[in-house]
Amino acid sequence: MIMVIDMDYKITTRNELETIELAQNIESEKFSNMVICLTGDLGSGKTVFTKGFAHAMEIDETVTSPTFNIIKEYLTGDMPLYHMDVYRLNEKSDELGIEEYYDKGGVTIIEWADLIPDLLPPNRLDIKFKVIDEDTRVLLITPHGKEYEDICEAVL
Ligand SMILES: Nc1ncnc2c1ncn2[C@@H]1O[C@H](COP(=O)(O)OP(=O)(O)O)[C@@H](O)[C@H]1O
Ligand SMILES: [Mg+2]
Repeated sequence: MIMVIDMDYKITTRNELETIELAQNIESEKFSNMVICLTGDLGSGKTVFTKGFAHAMEIDETVTSPTFNIIKEYLTGDMPLYHMDVYRLNEKSDELGIEEYYDKGGVTIIEWADLIPDLLPPNRLDIKFKVIDEDTRVLLITPHGKEYEDICEAVL
């Protein structure tokens, strides 16, 4: 079920596969320097989404949660994928140069992006995951900027 509320899109996924399919649909509209910001509790589906996106990009490495490394780079796909999980980010955030990834020509996906509001680019796609029950998630998708609005109109 898809409902449009102003600029936000509210999508319910009934299982892991539906979240993967959504990631694949968004991936089909990817562009260089795209930034996707994921928020939501532990186990809400952020990494599932990222794996689905990476698979659609034809990345042949196994994508795992980069919680302890913060940033993982995957360079074997159509385009570079920079996967970040900033849950354990500390005062070293400056040294990582997170913002330098946004215009390196790839796609950046950030888990727990709400923890670094000051480091996010103004133009981006926000996806907020809400756990409803064991297999149901509500995804609130908010595009910031024309190119992201166009993606949402195209695939959601
Ligand atoms: N609709 C759904 N979408 C995504 N994941 C789901 C869904 N229903 C159940 N799950 C399960 O929820 C878990 C999500 O884990 P994960 O993606 O690692 O969460 P996060 O990265 O947000 O901590 C997985 O075990 C997955 O199988
Ligand atoms: Mg995760």
